[in-house]
Amino acid sequence: MNGDTTEPTTSTTPTTASHRITLPQPRIDRVIAGGTVVTGAGVQPADVLIAGERIVAVASPGAVPLHEDVERVDASGQYVLPGMIDVHVHLREPGYVHKEDISTCTTAAAAGGVTTVFGMPNLNPVTKTREILDDLFELYDSKSLVDWNHNPVPSQLDEVKAMAEAGVAAFKIYMVVDTGRDYPHPSGSGIHDHGHLLRMFEAIKPTGLPFMVHPHDQAIMDVTEQSYWAKGDRSPQAYAQTLATHNGLIWDTAIAVLLQMAEATGTKLHIVHMQTAGSIELVRRARERGVQVSCEVNHWALFLSTWRDVNELGPYALSYWVPDHHREAVWEALNDGTIDMLASDHAPHTRAEKEVGWEDCWACHTGTPGIQDQYALLLDSAADGKISLPRVAEVVAEEPATEFKVADKGFIRPGYHADLVLFDPRRTTTYSNDAVLSRSGWTPYDGRTSQGAITRTMVRGTDVFADGAVVGKPGWGRLARPAL
Ligand code: DOR
Ligand code: ZN
Repeated sequence: MNGDTTEPTTSTTPTTASHRITLPQPRIDRVIAGGTVVTGAGVQPADVLIAGERIVAVASPGAVPLHEDVERVDASGQYVLPGMIDVHVHLREPGYVHKEDISTCTTAAAAGGVTTVFGMPNLNPVTKTREILDDLFELYDSKSLVDWNHNPVPSQLDEVKAMAEAGVAAFKIYMVVDTGRDYPHPSGSGIHDHGHLLRMFEAIKPTGLPFMVHPHDQAIMDVTEQSYWAKGDRSPQAYAQTLATHNGLIWDTAIAVLLQMAEATGTKLHIVHMQTAGSIELVRRARERGVQVSCEVNHWALFLSTWRDVNELGPYALSYWVPDHHREAVWEALNDGTIDMLASDHAPHTRAEKEVGWEDCWACHTGTPGIQDQYALLLDSAADGKISLPRVAEVVAEEPATEFKVADKGFIRPGYHADLVLFDPRRTTTYSNDAVLSRSGWTPYDGRTSQGAITRTMVRGTDVFADGAVVGKPGWGRLARPAL
C-alpha cells in the first residue's frame, strides 16, 4: 500500500483547441472516501487522499478523479478524525513489564485511536540520562505499533541538553514522594524541593522544550493523611478525601508555585491532571500575564472519579476524587480553551497491586488505564452535546501537536502524516475487561457502553487497527520529533 508501485495519475488539461499538455499529479495510494471529515475548523463531507505516509489533499467527495488501482476505503456514514496524540502515557518498559510493555500499550493505543504516544519516565531505570534514553529509544523503535516520543526527567541538570538533542518533545517530573510504597514514583522521578525545581526550569529553558509537571504538595498531603491514619483509616475514601482536601489545596498550591517559576524563568510549563476550579482560574490568570503554559485533563476527571466511583470501584477508580463542582469547571475549561488537551495518563497496574487498596489505599499503586477507551468516550460526550466535534479534534490532536510542536502531525491537511481515525456513530462501544488489550487486563469502565465506535486507526497511511482487530506491527512506530 505504501510502496512506490502505483503509477502516477495524469490529467489532460485543455489549452487551445489544437494543443493539449499532460500534467503529472502526485501519486495517490489510498483514498478515504465519502466520510465526514472533522477538524478544528469544522465538519465537512470530504475525501482524504493519501500518498505513501502523507495526506495530499482533502477534497470534495468524488472531485478528484482517481486511477483505478488506488485503494478506496469506504467511510460513508462515518467520521474521519485526526489520530490522537496522547502526551501522557505510562508504557512501563523497562522495569515494570508485568504491568504493561511498549507493544501491549501501543496495541491498546491503536484500538483506541491513538496514533502517537509520549511515554513517561517513572521506569527502572528512571529516564534521566542520555544513555538511558538512547536505550529506551531503541526499545520503542523495535516494539511500538504507533509513533512515539518520551519525556525524560531533567533532575540531572548536566544531562538536559543531550537529552533534548536526542529529539524528546518535553521533560517530566512528579512533585510526589510516595509514602509507604515504592511505586509509581520511584526514587529520582519525584522531586518537590523548590530549589531543585527552579534549577530544572532554568536548565530546560535553553532547549525551548516544555516542562511537564505532575503538581502536588507533598507537605500538605503528609499532614492530611496523618489525621486519617491516626484513626486507622487507610480506605480508598480516606485516600480520595486526603487528595481532595480543602477544595483542591494539594493541587492548587503546587500549580501556583509552578506558574511562578514558569514566569520567572520563561520556561514553558505543561500541567498534567487538571482537576480543580482553582487550578483553572490560576492558569487563566497566568495566561493573562503572558506566562507560557499549557495543560491537560485526563479521562478520569471527565468520565470517572465521582464519589460514587470512589465507593464502588475503590482503588480501581484511580484513587482520586473529582467533586462535581470541579468536574463542571473542568468541562467548561476544556470547551473554552483554558484546558488545551485530553491525555490519557494511561496508568496500568495489576489487579493484585490494586486489590490491596481496599484495605490500605496508601499501599496500592495509584492510576488507572485509559488509552483504549478515552477517545470513544469523548466522542460519546460529543454526541451528548457536552463538547463539539471540532473541539474534539483540537483537544485530541491539534492542540497537543501545536503545544509540543510535533512535526507533521495533528492536522488533517495536505502535507501532514495520514494519522487518521474512522468513527462510526451508528455503532456501539461496549467497555469490558474482556476487550482490554493492555496487559493490566481491566478497565474502570467495565460494564459501560457508549454511542459510536472506532472502526479504523491509521498511522502514516497504514492501518494499525481495522474491522475490530489490531493489525499494526511492532516496529512500525517512529520517533515523532518536535519541530524546533
Ligand atoms: O496515579 C498516578 N499514577 N500518578 C502518577 O503520577 C503516576 C501514575 C503511574 O505511573 O501509575
Ligand atoms: Zn501520569
